[in-house]
Amino acid sequence: MRKIDIEHIQAGSKLARPIYNANGQMLLSQGTVMKAEFLERLKRMGYTSAYIYDGLIDDVTVDEVIAEETRQQAVQCIREIMDNVHRGKTMKVSLAKKAVSDIINDLISNREMMLNLSDIRSYDDYTFNHSVNVTVISLMIGISMHYTQNRLQDLGLGVILHDIGKLKIPPEIINKPDKLTAHEYEMVQNHTWHGYEALRNSPEIKITSAHVALQHHEHFDGSGYPRRLKGKGILEFARVSAIADVYDALSNDRCYRKKLPAYKVYEFLLENAGKQFDSSILDRFIQKIALYPQGTKVKLSDGRSGLVLKQNNMNPSRPMVRLFWLDDMELPKPEEVNLLLQPSLEIVEVIE
Ligand SMILES: [Fe+2]
Repeated sequence: MRKIDIEHIQAGSKLARPIYNANGQMLLSQGTVMKAEFLERLKRMGYTSAYIYDGLIDDVTVDEVIAEETRQQAVQCIREIMDNVHRGKTMKVSLAKKAVSDIINDLISNREMMLNLSDIRSYDDYTFNHSVNVTVISLMIGISMHYTQNRLQDLGLGVILHDIGKLKIPPEIINKPDKLTAHEYEMVQNHTWHGYEALRNSPEIKITSAHVALQHHEHFDGSGYPRRLKGKGILEFARVSAIADVYDALSNDRCYRKKLPAYKVYEFLLENAGKQFDSSILDRFIQKIALYPQGTKVKLSDGRSGLVLKQNNMNPSRPMVRLFWLDDMELPKPEEVNLLLQPSLEIVEVIE
């Protein structure tokens, strides 16, 4: 299976993974033969990619760090909580706690796995999926930093609710594709204070978790907001979530820009080590990201090209690749190389 942009999916292709909407309802099941009208409808609903059997790496399934069921439940939970808060009801913190502990359990049992976040989301459903992904990534970092179970739980609770303050900002500003005016930007920045207020007033939430909402946009060099905190003056939970937040935001389509491929996101993070991000936390995180996720089309230094099959946990830049082409010519039969065992070969290009 391979994740392909909707625009590039041909009618008649078979869906390799179901597509869900933000209510957790399945829109299209695995095995559905895509018709032109389905593709049109998905596009209109804001979906930009899907998993397809493409005849090249159909035997490969994409590894997920958490189970699809855990993801769907967590998305539903954050949706329900935000809905309630929006309607002025009390926040059901127990729901969020359950979602966080389910994610922690999945992550601990898949500890060796690399991050290959592969959800298919509509950008209209961005907030819920984003909250869950940022939680997954933050907890992965927490696990690699040997956090205790309690500490993971406090981190996860703060992170899954980190953007709850956005409910106080008019959606037309949050989703505005154009540049914000100074006043609008100030309103957006205030989602940190709104979120903090909401969490700190809940007796079931520790103050350190509430501070994730307040501090997740602070930058290590003091250039962030709302309080321009600096270095270790920023709570460690917030330094963790800042990396996760940007990683997930850049890896997905938004109404105002296209997603970046994993290696570009990686470059962005590294360029901002010590500036926007805490380098010691970033070092741990980058060992866990799949630089070339499964299905990425890559060209090797000897001119052959193909699709990434599997990650090597030891080294994110040297995955296993199935090769189909030499320059523009098709090879007589596909060849597989494990770049970890072929030090003379390297990936020289990602073909988009
Ligand atoms: Fe935020």
